[in-house]
Amino acid sequence: MTARLRSSGWYDGRGRNAYIHRAWMRRGLPDDFAGRPQIAIANTASDLTPCNAHLTEVAQAVKNGVYEAGGIPLDLPVVSPGETQVRPTAMLWRNLAAMATEEMLRANPIDGVVLLGGCDKTIPALLMAAASVDIPAVVVPGGPMLTGHFQGEPLGCGTDVWRLSEEVRAGRLDPEEFRRSESAMIRSKGHCNTMGTASTMALMAEALGMTLPGLAGTPAPDARLLQASHETGRLIVDLVTQQRCPTGLLTKASFHNAIVTLAAVGGSTNAVVHLLAIAGRLGVELTLEDFDRIGAAVPLLVNLLPAGKFLMDDFYRAGGLLAVLREVKDLLDPNAVTVTGRPLVEYLDDAQIWDPTVIAPRIAPLQNNAGIAVLRGSLAPGGAIIKPAAASPHLLRHRGRAVVFSSIEDLHHRIDHPDLDIDESSVMVLRGCGPKGYPGMPEVANMPLPRKLLARGVRDMVRICDGRMSGTAYGTVVLHVTPESAAGGPLALVRDGDWIALDVASRTIELEASSVELGAREADVTTAAAYAGPHRGWERLYIDHVLQADTGADLDFLVGSTGSEVARESH
Ligand code: FES
Repeated sequence: MTARLRSSGWYDGRGRNAYIHRAWMRRGLPDDFAGRPQIAIANTASDLTPCNAHLTEVAQAVKNGVYEAGGIPLDLPVVSPGETQVRPTAMLWRNLAAMATEEMLRANPIDGVVLLGGCDKTIPALLMAAASVDIPAVVVPGGPMLTGHFQGEPLGCGTDVWRLSEEVRAGRLDPEEFRRSESAMIRSKGHCNTMGTASTMALMAEALGMTLPGLAGTPAPDARLLQASHETGRLIVDLVTQQRCPTGLLTKASFHNAIVTLAAVGGSTNAVVHLLAIAGRLGVELTLEDFDRIGAAVPLLVNLLPAGKFLMDDFYRAGGLLAVLREVKDLLDPNAVTVTGRPLVEYLDDAQIWDPTVIAPRIAPLQNNAGIAVLRGSLAPGGAIIKPAAASPHLLRHRGRAVVFSSIEDLHHRIDHPDLDIDESSVMVLRGCGPKGYPGMPEVANMPLPRKLLARGVRDMVRICDGRMSGTAYGTVVLHVTPESAAGGPLALVRDGDWIALDVASRTIELEASSVELGAREADVTTAAAYAGPHRGWERLYIDHVLQADTGADLDFLVGSTGSEVARESH
């Protein structure tokens, strides 16, 4: 027997309130609209989030499928933080987008939701929201853009901005040429085409079981994206009938599969903080150590920028995610179920690698043990992470003297000063960039190297920060240092010249100063001042309530789930 629709709580009955709810929604809909599944299309399309601007077209395809299956599709525009535009950093707005979406899903007569995201923070925010409301939900990732070319060479969106700008700073690229590359960087609709955060989170959504299997990674201009969107429209109506909700899908088993996937594809470090936040909404016990433990034995199979060579449309033509997962099927948890009701592992047998230069077979991986490493020690008692696949092998064990920057502005002000006391053995430290300190934990951990070292051919150094790193960036970067400096972490006590020892093999990051000496030091006042920052609005709320990176940087009062019940009527 079909379960009673949630929307019946608004529409059923002969009283005044049900009349109001129905009358205002009719607007040409058929008489029986109120008895059908009401499907929200949570759409992050926005001209100010260019990576998602095409999602309105995707929404139309979803709507066609919803109507076809007997549902009523309903546009639900939601907060859309565009990675390249919003200040001070899109991460500050992830939790706002998640909270606003959650509340609108709960407040409205909605039985199920299709989540349309793409640009970095949008899929995590939508999944956090759906998890906390726990109504049937399916993700349609908007897909990566096609590869642009400049002077005959492919451009990796994001990654090549960092690379070319460093070439300009090193004096090897004419600034005018750099400017000319701008028009070739974004070739088509869609999100960044490297294995950055957007691509990674789309793949995470599929690995978690929250998309149609085989959909994530479909390029935005590819007609198959619209076909899958149409099918997703049909599927969500079925999910409502079955009452298949996120809490039944997003289990420890599905997070296990997401972590295996993250390592195998060489995904963005940002996935760590996003997966922890999503798990926190569900009460799934996921820890930093799970990423290290589960990911440690997983081989790197995907040769994509920023760590490798190719781009997302190459990944898709080479077989896509299912081809990767077939290679590591034995490492996946067979109990994890997808939105279709079937386990993820059941979709792998027909998958095939069509280009082994893009997706390497298990017998010839690009790298063994590709997972994210979790470091602890006197500099990061709550943990820090590093992506060894994006680091320089010779720096994975390194001891050097600290060169400290108190803020990103301090770094920009002094990094190219000829008198800066720094060489390639130094350890660059940037603080004041954690969730509270910035606020919002920006992607600045991959600090630019000093111009004078770039000119000498130095291309990587050990860098340590309490902020995040763009998924499109690379280097020997220790990030998400917890506790952050603005929350009293030892990072605030580091001084120029202190010895710091990094040893990724033993998972340690140590500040070589005695506790007596550190106890006598005062925390950097610059970060303390930043912490006191805004006196009102979202930033104030965020600073007062944001948790540290090791648990996902959610707000303390948003962790967990409220469910979909709303006890009171509106009139
Ligand atoms: Fe939107 Fe990269 S800026 S995905």
